[in-house]
Amino acid sequence: MQPPSPSPAPTPSPESTNLVTSRRAFIKAAGATAGVSALAGVKLPYVHAADDSTISVALIGCGGRGSGAAVNALTTAKKGPVRLTAMADVFPDKLENSFKALKRNEEVGSHVEVADDKKFIGFDAYKQAMDCLKPGDVAIFTTPLAFRWVHFRYAIQKGLNVFMEKPLTADGPTSRRMIELAKEASAKGLKVGVGLMSRHSRSLQDLSKRIQDGEIGDIVAMRGYRMHGPVGSAFSTKWDGKGSELMWQIRHFHSFLWASGGCFSDFYIHIVDHLCWMKGSWPVKAQALGGRHYRKSNGEDCIDQNFDTYSVEYTFADGSKFFMDGRCINGTLPIYASYVHGTKGIAIASKANDCGFPSSIHKGQNPDRASALWTSPSVPGEQDPYTNEWNDLMDAIRNDKPYNEVKRGVEASLVTSMGRMAAHTGQEITFDQMLNHEHEYAPGADTLTPESAPPLRSGPDGKYPVPMPGIVKDKEFEPLKA
Ligand SMILES: NC(=O)c1ccc[n+]([C@@H]2O[C@H](COP(=O)([O-])OP(=O)(O)OC[C@H]3O[C@@H](n4cnc5c(N)ncnc54)[C@H](O)[C@@H]3O)[C@@H](O)[C@H]2O)c1
Repeated sequence: MQPPSPSPAPTPSPESTNLVTSRRAFIKAAGATAGVSALAGVKLPYVHAADDSTISVALIGCGGRGSGAAVNALTTAKKGPVRLTAMADVFPDKLENSFKALKRNEEVGSHVEVADDKKFIGFDAYKQAMDCLKPGDVAIFTTPLAFRWVHFRYAIQKGLNVFMEKPLTADGPTSRRMIELAKEASAKGLKVGVGLMSRHSRSLQDLSKRIQDGEIGDIVAMRGYRMHGPVGSAFSTKWDGKGSELMWQIRHFHSFLWASGGCFSDFYIHIVDHLCWMKGSWPVKAQALGGRHYRKSNGEDCIDQNFDTYSVEYTFADGSKFFMDGRCINGTLPIYASYVHGTKGIAIASKANDCGFPSSIHKGQNPDRASALWTSPSVPGEQDPYTNEWNDLMDAIRNDKPYNEVKRGVEASLVTSMGRMAAHTGQEITFDQMLNHEHEYAPGADTLTPESAPPLRSGPDGKYPVPMPGIVKDKEFEPLKA
């Protein structure tokens, strides 16, 4: 199967001064026509029953990004009333720290209205938090990716709009499930944003249009780099045997493919996604190198599933290439950038991050200041793609515009997983193979309790199965039997 082309980012709408009025007008119109039989079968979007344009938000997964996403959501209050009314996490300390930080936030603290009985803890907390919302409100999913489909399925059932963080999936079965759920969400008129915020970077949007218009000619190759020391929980030493092993794995989610897709998926997906967007298609296959040079931390064995070095060669249907290099090793050359080589010139997609800041186009293949033909301008009020993605989502909600980024988010997640699996197996992996692969990394993610055995079991030595390229070839690792 030919992978589908990435759809463009939703076009940001011009700032509207009467968003509240138009939402009210819509609610009034919907109310007036609701009983008319001629409308039977016509899909009506979810709106609040009362003449109230306030959007309530529930935060599910109250860690670093969740707290940031809640701030981003609440800053849209400038364009229409919004408040945070419920929070859910599996750890009380995470929830309480996030709540306190949000409450203290000078800009948005006054929009945080989470009563103690609207703070929920546990694996079912997501349901309780979403039960506090009305159809048309927004649920934020910022847990590790293993729970995306579980939470999304419930949000659809409740008629809620959603913002969910990347990556969306790490394996074939959950990718297929998420694509089906995305169709259900669209059929219900729900709006769903995905945290691939590069798509909402005004400089990358501008660059993508210029590339499509032929400013660098035909794309022959692209290069992406994210190389720095270890970050997040990519490298872990053994669980100390106290408490729940599952809860310990969740706290160290970058270490485990079931929870995060590992450091490759979690850290590199933005560059993979935005370069494929520049190309206008997804790659058909990948082959890759990768390995783990060092497996000790302060003298202790590391037991996580990650390599510390990845180099993936993606191939597009037209034969052009995209090389993605990722490294987590202290003391090595740090590079965090992306490049697009065309027959007429080169573009720097992103100079030192995931989102442009700036993007530029150059004559020839040497992207220096002297060769620059265009550099993306800073757009006042729209410099921050994390804010833009929320303004775009809320605009779609308030004005009932079609908006569902899930299919594209799953495709970006699949392409990332395809590169990771190519490195972990030492084989060529096609898009189709990744999509249709049967290995599900966290089966039963919807039935976990703190006492459950973790989806990945350790051996008697406390070590987990790791990728073995050339030995374990049909899957990324050989799970240990229970
Ligand atoms: N777009 C970006 O630039 C960006 C940046 C950082 C993180 N992220 C993404 O956001 C997600 C979270 O990352 P983070 O850095 O905030 O991690 P984190 O560990 O700080 O936060 C995750 C939170 O989810 C909670 N949680 C875990 N399982 C849960 C469950 N089943 N129900 C409810 N809560 C649960 C954890 O206890 C934790 O508080 C990841 O998918 C990550 O890739 C995106």
